[in-house]
Amino acid sequence: MAGSDWTCSLSAMHEWESPDYEPSLPVSEKSNPLTRDIDRASPNCIVRMLQACDAQMFQDGTGATYQRLLSEQVVETLTEVAKQVEHILKDPRDSLIVLSGCGTSGRLAFLVASAFNRALGELDRSSVYSYIIAGGDKALLSSQEAPEDDPKLGVLSLKKVCEGQKRVLFIGISCGLSAPFVAGQLDFCLQHPEVYTPVLVGFNPPHQARDERIPGCTFTFRSVARRMQELATRQRAFLINPAVGPEAVSGSSRMKGGSATKILLEVVLSAAHAATFADTPVTPKGLLQHMGAYEKTLEITYAQREGIGALLEAAGQSLRRGGRVCYLGWGPLGTLGLIDASECVPTFGAGCEDVRGYISGGYRELNNNEGPLGPDFCIAHEDFLRLVLPSLDDRDAVLLIYTHSGNNVGEVAELARTVREKTSNLHAVYHRVDGDTAAAEQQDDINKLCFSSLKFTWPSPASGISLHMQWELSTKLLLNAVSTGAHVLKGKIYQNHMVDLQVTNSKLYRRATRLLQKLSGGPESRCEEALLKAVYRVDELTADITSSDVSAHARAARSGTKAVPLALVCLLTGRSLREAGTHLEQHPIVREAVEACLS
Ligand code: F6P
Repeated sequence: MAGSDWTCSLSAMHEWESPDYEPSLPVSEKSNPLTRDIDRASPNCIVRMLQACDAQMFQDGTGATYQRLLSEQVVETLTEVAKQVEHILKDPRDSLIVLSGCGTSGRLAFLVASAFNRALGELDRSSVYSYIIAGGDKALLSSQEAPEDDPKLGVLSLKKVCEGQKRVLFIGISCGLSAPFVAGQLDFCLQHPEVYTPVLVGFNPPHQARDERIPGCTFTFRSVARRMQELATRQRAFLINPAVGPEAVSGSSRMKGGSATKILLEVVLSAAHAATFADTPVTPKGLLQHMGAYEKTLEITYAQREGIGALLEAAGQSLRRGGRVCYLGWGPLGTLGLIDASECVPTFGAGCEDVRGYISGGYRELNNNEGPLGPDFCIAHEDFLRLVLPSLDDRDAVLLIYTHSGNNVGEVAELARTVREKTSNLHAVYHRVDGDTAAAEQQDDINKLCFSSLKFTWPSPASGISLHMQWELSTKLLLNAVSTGAHVLKGKIYQNHMVDLQVTNSKLYRRATRLLQKLSGGPESRCEEALLKAVYRVDELTADITSSDVSAHARAARSGTKAVPLALVCLLTGRSLREAGTHLEQHPIVREAVEACLS
């Protein structure tokens, strides 16, 4: 069991790299040996485990099985892609750089494209970046998993964005090298090399890319990755795919996968912007310096691990007591709050209200393609005041997330006063540059109102490295830790697996089957059978069900809940679905339900 004295040995840091470690799984789906006992860890210990997991991103790749973030080959490819971006920035006529992905990958595509278009705007240049997210802008704020399986939709959305363009640098992001939506887009780019240059960002080697047949297509993700690998030798396609180690919660690519995506894209685009607008040529050395700044970001962030642990504990307590966790953010840090909160629903089976994000300025600040997304997606601070504040009490935890650079500390103080009238469970997280004493008085006021204040002080940045991007990464790490840790404390995780996952697309369906095999020890066919019975809520499978394909099963799974825990209880105990349902009602905490079956 992981006690408060958890330490991370060197061998545990590297264990996942051994060819014998979970050999049938790609890196992105393996379970991380560092977090095997995260479900029983204390809040501080959870943060230390997450820190060790994140540190794996920057592990040295020399002599390692997998290429890593800082490996020579990876940095070389980043340099080449940055030069492609530079060409477009220098002559942007009829040209576009498209970032595309599903779930978190699409959210980061949006975040990064928005930041770099903003940077262009500040230089009086027109936008060059576009983003695509499977399922459209609704997917920025909620899980839309079915479109991830649709390669044709991927192609359609790419064609739409690129209409009339003569040159497109397409950056497709799929952490697991697995999303058919992105595979379809990459395949389309490969068929139209006169316009499109494809770049693939992900965190598995090509031989571990998903090889499952995609209905209606002649290619798989793996075959597309292989074709790109061949073209990469002639710089007609690019693969950026270092391994960053398994996720802290198995398969939860919103964490390291998302962070590494943000780092890689920002390093490439920052270098290209510096080359175009500040006469600083793109070099591997410059890129490595950028990477170094992000490594430092991890250090500065986790230096506050006790403060993060306290926040995580407060959030966990709120969730356990049936309260809510609200992020009130400003600027891009507010966007990160929206993103982190929205991911809790699919990742932990959380309710929509359990963790919610709000951003100052609402949709004006978010500046997404489709604008306001309707009453189900209220995101402004005014919405928080109108919809949440009246019923707020001490069970609810509120986090204020801001920087001292945006002239909004006065606004933060005002909101803090309003929230404090309803709950003392108020916390501040803020970033400022070392030596910056502006807004010190207002900050003092905020500190007095808050139960805890977490201050991140940053050294003045070296040239070319945006402090704002470091603040964003730091905030992402912190929020991921808070929301993951809070759900661990709520008992949503068993060992380091999310058992109660929704099987709403083919990747999740396969992951669920594998998980059932691992936890029950049963053969694949029996586990899939149990899963299908739980999805369709039948004790006997009909011919109709067994002859349907995975997309039909994923559709059916959308209407039910708890399919995987139900299947697991049936497998472990031989009970009927109804009896398994009763067992889960008696043990609403999934971890306890599983343990009761095993004991
Ligand atoms: O299917 C849901 C999901 O797993 C999200 O959690 C994730 O962000 C998304 O798929 C995309 O995964 P990938 O980046 O591997 O394509």
